[in-house]
Amino acid sequence: MNEPDDQITTISTEALAALAAVSSIEELDERVASIVGKRSAFAAVQRTFGSLDPDERREMGARLQEARRAVENAVESRRAHLGDVQRSSMLEADRLDLGDVVVAARTWSVTAGHAGLVGTTQAELEDVFVAMGFAVAEGPEVESDWYNFEALNIPPAHPARGMWDTFYVDLGEPETVVLRTHTSPTQVHLMEAAVANDALPIHAVAPGRCYRRDTPDARHLAAFHQIEGLVVDRNITFADLAGTIETFTRAYFGPDIESRLRPAFFPFTEPSAEFEITCTICRGAGCRTCSNTGWIELGGCGMIDPAVFEAVGIDPDAWSGFAFGFGIDRCAQMRHELSDMRALVENDVRFLGQFA
Ligand code: DAH
Repeated sequence: MNEPDDQITTISTEALAALAAVSSIEELDERVASIVGKRSAFAAVQRTFGSLDPDERREMGARLQEARRAVENAVESRRAHLGDVQRSSMLEADRLDLGDVVVAARTWSVTAGHAGLVGTTQAELEDVFVAMGFAVAEGPEVESDWYNFEALNIPPAHPARGMWDTFYVDLGEPETVVLRTHTSPTQVHLMEAAVANDALPIHAVAPGRCYRRDTPDARHLAAFHQIEGLVVDRNITFADLAGTIETFTRAYFGPDIESRLRPAFFPFTEPSAEFEITCTICRGAGCRTCSNTGWIELGGCGMIDPAVFEAVGIDPDAWSGFAFGFGIDRCAQMRHELSDMRALVENDVRFLGQFA
């Protein structure tokens, strides 16, 4: 063996020893240049080959290349091994000892979560309406202008739009996609589906979340819940509507809460009414929550306007119907005598825990 050959063997042995001493990927990254790279003994000895004659240079060059490649392969194997070691030690560190959790559960009392008041109220309202013969439906929270307004007889730029401070969604033409401001667009979906499937009559309620650009106060939230009611059948009259509202109020709030309908205007019903109940906070005497009126408005209702029937392709001479829509959060507030509705969304466990 000539001298450079000897040197190559020594360099390889030392490089492999240095590699074996590396204990992390970070350290390997730091040291790799001095083991096989530019700062390594391989690079240094290669620079001395310039003085060899051409044949010898070629031969030694090939040997050096081979030895260097072997060390490079060893570097990659070492890297893979160190990666495995690092991963398994991380897994070990993350391992969850369920024994500890069980001990904790025995040592301290762990409180289980429970359904929120709004969800429970929605379920109770659905129960009341199901018992009265209504089906439960659902509509989307993001609507086109057509469903939220136009099909409900509220054309673009109509002053009635001011009744709903609208959040627009940044989609399509400006101000064409909205977060629904009420559950009334579900009426349009229900009627369209019934027409498409030849499935009239309709007796349905549709609960869900709605959004308005309102400043929250004792009686309002910007994200709130409504339940919409829709009946489309033959010979439906205002008496059917009033009877439904009255039956619901007694079933849900009990016999000592009075309801009343007051004439109102909604573009999608004619005639329309506002549906109010005795304020449960002051029992009618007047307080901050009811703005000293003794009454709380739950929502609106009325006989479906023929223009709405026409928008969805229902013959207003053959069918008639009524609709109503009111606040679920408002019902929860009145049922549980909450002076301020904002408590429903403040996530104070002292409040929420009362309704477990
Ligand atoms: N959508 C109305 C609102 O949120 C309430 C309403 C009024 C719903 C009359 C109805 C209705 O179905 O007939 O202000």
